Amino acid sequence: MKPKPFYVTTPIYYVNDLPHIGHIYSTVVTDTMARYHRLLQEPTRFLTGTDEHGQNIEKAAAEQGIAPIALADRVVSRYHDLYKTFEISNDDFIRTTEARHRRGVEEIIARMEKAGDLYVARHEGWYCSSCEAFYTEKELGPEKRCPVHDRPTTWESEENVFFRLSKYTQPLLAHYGAHPEFIRPETRLAEMASFVKGGLSDISISRSKVKWGIPFPGHPGHVVYVWLDALSNYITALGFGSPDPSLYRRFWEDPEGRRVHLIGKDILRFHTVFWPAFLMSAGLPLPTTVWAHGWWLRDEKKMSKSVGNVVRPDELVARFGPDALRYFLLREMAFGQDARFSDEAFLARYNADLANDLGNTVSRVAALCRQSFGGTPREMSADNEVMTAWSEARREWQAAMEDWAFARALEAVWRFLTQINGYVVAQEPWKIRKKEGADSARLHRVLSAAAEGVRLSAAALWPFMPATSRRIFETFGLPAADATGASLEWGGLPVSTPMPELPALFPRVDAADYLTGKDGTMSDATPPPAAPAAAPPDDRIGIEDFQKVRLATAKILAAERVPKSNKLMRLQVDLGFEQRQVVAGIAAQYAPEQLVGRNVVVVTNLKPAKLMGVESNGMVLAASVGEAGAPVLLDVPADVPPGSKVK
Ligand code: MSP
Repeated sequence: MKPKPFYVTTPIYYVNDLPHIGHIYSTVVTDTMARYHRLLQEPTRFLTGTDEHGQNIEKAAAEQGIAPIALADRVVSRYHDLYKTFEISNDDFIRTTEARHRRGVEEIIARMEKAGDLYVARHEGWYCSSCEAFYTEKELGPEKRCPVHDRPTTWESEENVFFRLSKYTQPLLAHYGAHPEFIRPETRLAEMASFVKGGLSDISISRSKVKWGIPFPGHPGHVVYVWLDALSNYITALGFGSPDPSLYRRFWEDPEGRRVHLIGKDILRFHTVFWPAFLMSAGLPLPTTVWAHGWWLRDEKKMSKSVGNVVRPDELVARFGPDALRYFLLREMAFGQDARFSDEAFLARYNADLANDLGNTVSRVAALCRQSFGGTPREMSADNEVMTAWSEARREWQAAMEDWAFARALEAVWRFLTQINGYVVAQEPWKIRKKEGADSARLHRVLSAAAEGVRLSAAALWPFMPATSRRIFETFGLPAADATGASLEWGGLPVSTPMPELPALFPRVDAADYLTGKDGTMSDATPPPAAPAAAPPDDRIGIEDFQKVRLATAKILAAERVPKSNKLMRLQVDLGFEQRQVVAGIAAQYAPEQLVGRNVVVVTNLKPAKLMGVESNGMVLAASVGEAGAPVLLDVPADVPPGSKVK
């Protein structure tokens, strides 16, 4: 039987924000699924990318005084770096500013036009610029606030190209009915079906107020609505509308193929109403499944830039490695539901699941082999309890993976680890060695069963934690290579092979020290400055207070005196990702030309303030010298890039 193609995509991410845990989550989930299907030796393709057009990007770039494409380039390079760190195995990365994408979008629009689904009319309604979408009065409530962003919407009116979405009300409902797997989890299907049953209105798919977009074919001055532009990425990246549509044919047109979009629940409607309707109109096949996961919450709110509660992955990765975070994200969130992100929960899982259950099992079994034989056992046992346990674990693992139930799949592996441990404890190999010597055939059989069990766990963990999986293989005398289909079969452990002694996979961390920053590894690695001996103890602050102040290096790009002020200087500073205006009281000591190009330290999370009518977004640090407290800037060495955290 020919294996069915599996095509899986992440949402394409906006470039007005740097990646945070939420974006990483979607990408890691998709990566895990792609790896799983590759492990099953199915033809797999994994796409991710960035959504670079639209009003929000236009605005963010203007605020930073740079071109939208320059902003996009920066954020894309950040995504590339992070994907490398997390070993994201995407086959392609699409950017909506690429020519190949634009060509495909033009082709989709040409087909929609040909189907008679486009017309021009005046468009009015309540618009959320963060969603780039219109809402009905009913959806907004009396305050007219966006249901996703909880921000005010605005009344917009313009002449637009419209798409006859209303025409697809019945076809969509029929599709949902015939293909219950189209929207997962089921609760979301019910939600969307009831939304569509309420009746669909036509939607405007061109914008004249926005400049940063794909020019709308045949409508000068209009750009393509950003969601039509963005959704099309899933097929333009496969070469739809290009001279070589071979990937498109293979991964989108195969009637047996699976085409899965993984998304967050915030963008469900776009993917399960708009996108299939666009495709129906263009006469193209639909995705087979849209899988909507829940949100990572912090303080009970969706983690997002606009709320200001995001967790960036850098610190956790620097301290615990990318696999620990991959594991946490996949294990902690019941797929489809919301989950809370906290350092405490992360640490608890790290110590209990990774350092203890996984790490200790690996090191215990490896040590027993090394101590007994100086390497792996000389023969493979082919009849033992571990083998039976593995066939059950593998079945559960695979069933869970098919269901995208990552936590359940991991639980199956963890149960198997417990069984391996139980087997070792029951067989007491240390006693066999003492009684029968290291040459004992029974000792070889017992330890080969345990070691093979650990190796198989590593194979099942490969989609989740590829680097850890390779390290476990290496520990048991195998090449540190990626798992393949064969890795899941009993008997892959090499016999009589030396085993290198590698450092612990996940060294245990003292949770209390870590959480209070005492182990010197939390964000604020430096302990708070010690209070002078004479200071009353009440003056001292805890690390948590110090952590509230965010300090970063910045490069001064421009400086000019604030008119009518002797003291104030208006500075434009580059914070790496962002440029800002900061007003500093240093004009009596420094001339503008002494400042430009200088690297300084800035408090980045001060509330904006107006100084002599000029807005200041932050504060530059300076030592206060002498009686008069004359400011002396704290210079940062030139090789420290702007945006580096100061702690
Ligand atoms: N550009 C659109 C998607 C276009 S797809 C054709 C967009 N981009 S986004 O940058 O806002 O990222 C959206 C996706 O990031 C969400 O759908 C979700 O997959 C992920 N997440 C962003 N914040 C999240 C959480 N707090 N929690 C979980 N995932 C979240 O929307």
